[in-house]
Amino acid sequence: MSDVDLLWPDPASGLDDEALLALIAMPEGRDWLRMNFIASIDGAATRDGRSGGLGDAADRRLFDLLRRPADAILLGAGTARIEGYGGMRLDAASVAWREARGLAAHPTFVLISRSLHLDPASPIFTEAPVRPIICTVVGAPARRLADVADVIVCGEGDVDPLRVRAELADRGLRHVHGEGGPHVFGSFLAAGAVDALHLTIAPTLEGGASGRITSGATASPTGMHLASVLRAADELFLHYARS
Ligand SMILES: NC(=O)c1ccc[n+]([C@@H]2O[C@H](COP(=O)([O-])OP(=O)(O)OC[C@H]3O[C@@H](n4cnc5c(N)ncnc54)[C@H](OP(=O)(O)O)[C@@H]3O)[C@@H](O)[C@H]2O)c1
Repeated sequence: MSDVDLLWPDPASGLDDEALLALIAMPEGRDWLRMNFIASIDGAATRDGRSGGLGDAADRRLFDLLRRPADAILLGAGTARIEGYGGMRLDAASVAWREARGLAAHPTFVLISRSLHLDPASPIFTEAPVRPIICTVVGAPARRLADVADVIVCGEGDVDPLRVRAELADRGLRHVHGEGGPHVFGSFLAAGAVDALHLTIAPTLEGGASGRITSGATASPTGMHLASVLRAADELFLHYARS
């Protein structure tokens, strides 16, 4: 297991999973939506077109732990198509942890798509332990995916992030963990729908023309407050909460 140390606020070394889960916990008694991203030191969100090339074992450990307390995992269709996601199935330790706390064994996978250009034969749907949800717009061709997912209209031209949160909350999915991608993050940020960010800084300079972790036409400056800083070797894990 990759060693992860806490640098701030109270330095500690070799944190176990329970200590990490306590550090990344969101405030109790509130609905929340947080995002998890990785970027290089110079701000690249991808290497060779994917985020996976930037991460290592420690990032994977945090990535998996961040999923653990979530009712739903949110993802944009672009990332789903590029990163080759499978069914949203957590490992046995995560399932045991969740069941001990009265949570569903696995979180619900929630996809955001305007076009609904998603393959119903993808493992996202065929290997899903929980029927996924797709949030889309008025007029999208929902019939093709209706057999494999609940397709919910959440907007006219664009999916409205606040409507997504309300629709999910109505279904008991109040704690939402987002894994991207940049367009989803940009639109949720612009709507004021993001409560926290977990950002891994991969110890590499990428150069080139990779995009950032947010994308979109609307600038949306949002003050954030530093909640914790973790380190694994040369990699940093920054946890920011919305001010
Ligand atoms: N560094 C990281 O941590 C990280 C994390 C995730 C992804 N990525 C990378 O990001 C790249 C993908 O970027 P991306 O921005 O295209 O990903 P994305 O945000 O996952 O997907 C964009 C797509 O999501 C849908 N969408 C997003 N916001 C919408 C809205 N408000 N209303 C309606 N539909 C909406 C649209 O789907 P339709 O096209 O189906 O209409 C849109 O084309 C990949 O290279 C991936 O590897 C990096």
